[in-house]
Amino acid sequence: MAIYLDHNATSPMHPEVVDAMMPYLQHPVGNPSSLHSYGRMARSAIESARGEVAALLGCDSAAVIFTSGGTESNNLLLKGYVDHTSTRPIVSSEIEHSSVIEPLKQLRAEGVNVILLKSNSDGQVDIDAARAVVENAQAQLLSIIYANNETGVIQPLAELFELVDRESCIVHSDATQAIGKIPLDMAQLGLDAISFSAHKLRGPQGVGVLIINRKPGHKLISGGDQENKRRGGTENVAGIVGLGKAAQLARLEMEQRRHYLEQLRDAFETRLKAITGSVVFGQQALRLPNTTFFALPYYHGETLLMELDRAGFALSSGSACHSAVTEPSHVLRAMGVDDSLALNAIRVSFGMDNSLQDVEELTAKLHQQVSKLPAVIRRAAG
Ligand SMILES: Cc1ncc(COP(=O)(O)O)c(C=O)c1O
Repeated sequence: MAIYLDHNATSPMHPEVVDAMMPYLQHPVGNPSSLHSYGRMARSAIESARGEVAALLGCDSAAVIFTSGGTESNNLLLKGYVDHTSTRPIVSSEIEHSSVIEPLKQLRAEGVNVILLKSNSDGQVDIDAARAVVENAQAQLLSIIYANNETGVIQPLAELFELVDRESCIVHSDATQAIGKIPLDMAQLGLDAISFSAHKLRGPQGVGVLIINRKPGHKLISGGDQENKRRGGTENVAGIVGLGKAAQLARLEMEQRRHYLEQLRDAFETRLKAITGSVVFGQQALRLPNTTFFALPYYHGETLLMELDRAGFALSSGSACHSAVTEPSHVLRAMGVDDSLALNAIRVSFGMDNSLQDVEELTAKLHQQVSKLPAVIRRAAG
């Protein structure tokens, strides 16, 4: 089996999550809208998962809407809770995930005023540039990624939120990568809305959440009155139960996880430094504890990725959702990284099933690959 080092793409389920879901996969599970005992059991399981999500994020459980994942949650927010007839802008950034960027492109094409804030070279939204753009813009929505999926860089949300009128502007964050890796309290940060997927948090794939403490907006998926009339369709009961368990475990194990992942990441980066010319993107900024986005200047990212894959290591070249595309990462471009270096980018994202031994094996392999390059190239890189 390959060593899995791509936890920002998806993370294997926690064994206790699998155990919690099992009864809802093996036994008859009622439709949560049914009034009989099976239905009531399913409803009760969903409501206790909702309570766990609310406990993890410090929000009211009534604000939690279960969806099919972060992509749907971001779409629901942008298409369902924004006044598309208003001239007031939606403010977001150039370093968002495609599940924010693409709906924003769609809205812009429909005539909605969209402003994308710039990144600085550390991979953080540039607060000075943002101030000039946002302060008098009367934004109706400010949506900023909590921590970038490629670089792991944590964004200056509190400072950004101060730039808008909190009475009339919804502040949202796509927290899909931050969730379960760093503590996140919505009330403390003054966040009105947040999105994420369960599978980045050691829960199952295909289930996620939009939390929003605003009155119901337009539905993205119409049908029944599920999720308090905010998202139609029979709920994914087993998936939601798994998400609830994953949220509970993340709350209880947060500090232990953060400490462990940081140890692996730091050990990796120390060893990586010994490779002449290696670069870690966003290294000067506050980052997620598990993520290193790096480049070896003389190695095309996808070539290295395939060689590592053959040698039994599963990593990613940039964002997972872009892995079929050879364009340089839009995040690195926004940071001002030259395309020739950006095309060499590789992401390692550690998880709780990794060990220091994995770090040793990966770095030994990287050293070996680099030593195979012709000496003339290695000298040029140094
Ligand atoms: C920051 C971010 N937002 C949203 C998503 C979309 O999540 P999903 O593919 O589970 O819908 C991802 C997935 O990689 C992500 O990293």
